Amino acid sequence: MSAPESIRTARLLLRPFIAADASAVQRLASAREVAETTATLPHPYPDGAAAAWIATHPTQYAAGVSTDWAITTAADGVVGAIALRLSPAQLHAELGYWIGVPSWRRGFATEAATAVIRHGLRTLGLKRVHAHHMSANAASGAVLRKAGMSFEGRLRSHLRRDGRFHDVELWGIVDDELERSDARRAAGTAFEHATPVLPALDLAAALAFYEQKLGWKQVFAYPEQGYAGVERNGATLHLWKCDDPKLPQHTSCRFRVRGVDALYAEYEAAGVIHPHANGKLALKPWGSREFIALDRDGNALHFAETATKTHAA
Ligand SMILES: CC(C)(COP(=O)(O)OP(=O)(O)OC[C@H]1O[C@@H](n2cnc3c(N)ncnc32)[C@H](O)[C@@H]1OP(=O)(O)O)[C@@H](O)C(=O)NCCC(=O)NCCS
Repeated sequence: MSAPESIRTARLLLRPFIAADASAVQRLASAREVAETTATLPHPYPDGAAAAWIATHPTQYAAGVSTDWAITTAADGVVGAIALRLSPAQLHAELGYWIGVPSWRRGFATEAATAVIRHGLRTLGLKRVHAHHMSANAASGAVLRKAGMSFEGRLRSHLRRDGRFHDVELWGIVDDELERSDARRAAGTAFEHATPVLPALDLAAALAFYEQKLGWKQVFAYPEQGYAGVERNGATLHLWKCDDPKLPQHTSCRFRVRGVDALYAEYEAAGVIHPHANGKLALKPWGSREFIALDRDGNALHFAETATKTHAA
């Protein structure tokens, strides 16, 4: 065979590139936003580079060093590219991918990466698949985490791109990790969501605070049992009555949100931002923008949103 087998996912067909894909690749890969976070895509992308690149695939595949797929949808045709760079002697491969800007944030990279990792470990019999991305490229980190890889470390100033040195994050998955997660799924085990259970000294006063200051809604309350629940935008939080004022002072929980700026403005106006310097909305080294609010009893509520590239720059 001179080409890898195609892989079908819920929304995508990953198939070998053909010569006729060159114009789509040329158009999508020419975008600065696509090139600037990769190690090797040239920018400006030279005329004819896509056709020349596609022409290398059969020999690369035949030599067993690279397996490239076009990421395609029925509606849009080619939307991106994904590849395994193989090290046959090590039985491992490096995963690389890009998605054209018009198709960003639709889950395509995650869906394609999940399928190609499985293909590498199962169909190709690899021991390990790994990947790396610039530390500032939070989107790529999210793709790899959601595709089942584990964070393995950071290489400082490892990658030189456009005259600047970038830190790089390493991710990987080995074959038995995939087996364990499949076995757990087959056994019917799945964690759906987690609910923080926070201590409150006065349950009624805490509920009023959550409703009036923090914009949550009470969903249930069992005052005699000392237990209540509140909800906001699909997230739930439970409160339990406690008598030790030190407990809430040492308790915290964290929510991943969208629209962190508007939430910060709302909570700032309500006067509930943690007075410590860390309370203020700021970009963190791990690529999210976060702030901390305090409830009536001192429980710390962290709110975080993945930073966009504009924020990370
Ligand atoms: C990185 C890249 C492949 C992501 O593709 P994508 O199809 O948009 O990713 P997904 O839709 O599967 O999103 C995966 C996660 O990343 C987050 N994400 C996507 N784009 C983001 C962005 N610009 N900023 C912050 N987060 C982003 C998504 O919100 C999602 O996380 P969530 O489900 O927790 O919200 C794409 O932005 C890209 O091609 N960039 C340029 C090339 C590149 O960096 N390639 C990888 C080199 S290692």
